[in-house]
Amino acid sequence: MPLLAANWKMYKGLRETGEFCAAFRSPAGVDAVVCPPFVSLSTAVGSGHTVFAQNVHWADEGAFTGEVSAPMLLELGVAGAIVGHSERRRYFGETDDTVRLRVEAALAAGLRVIACVGELEDERERGETEEVLRRQVSVLSRHDALVVAYEPGWAIGTGKTATPEQAREAHAFIKSLLDTPVLYGGSVKPENAEELLAQPGVDGALVGGASLDVESFTAICRAAAANP
Ligand code: PGA
Repeated sequence: MPLLAANWKMYKGLRETGEFCAAFRSPAGVDAVVCPPFVSLSTAVGSGHTVFAQNVHWADEGAFTGEVSAPMLLELGVAGAIVGHSERRRYFGETDDTVRLRVEAALAAGLRVIACVGELEDERERGETEEVLRRQVSVLSRHDALVVAYEPGWAIGTGKTATPEQAREAHAFIKSLLDTPVLYGGSVKPENAEELLAQPGVDGALVGGASLDVESFTAICRAAAANP
């Protein structure tokens, strides 16, 4: 079943999270999850939707100011977490090593994980896409609760989307390294979702901007349901 994850980033406090969750009905045939900011997680969990956090620390507890652990998320009823999003890598010093630590701890604790990989624009221009993906995927191991999200850095929040061929190629390459479902992320919208999700090897989507609106996220979920 295709996985559709709504990555709200630093949008939607309690009120807006409650409004979205009350209005959203997941179409049949898709595994739809919402990923609100930490402060809004409990509201989303209470609504009955499947909820993932946007990050998770590797220790169960400790002196790690500003971090949240897997047991804390599980106690709240959170089912999974995004790890290694490109914004975490770019703005918050996330590295392949910290991604590995977070992913391993989250899986061991019983969370599902969406581990994000993807090249930046200059890396693609220099022909380094496969090298970057190989390095980022090398810290991951196959696990039933793990999916990878391929998110080309140049397509995130830019309105630029990978062409269906670029997505297909990158997904096939990732699957050649690790036998795992691979989501596509980067400016997925109702207008392009059907074509992207129809590509072989595209097992769902990680949606940012277009997931903030109930109707647009629902339309993307429907496009995925049409391409099981
Ligand atoms: P976008 O973000 O859909 O706004 O490009 C995707 C993501 O960062 O997960």
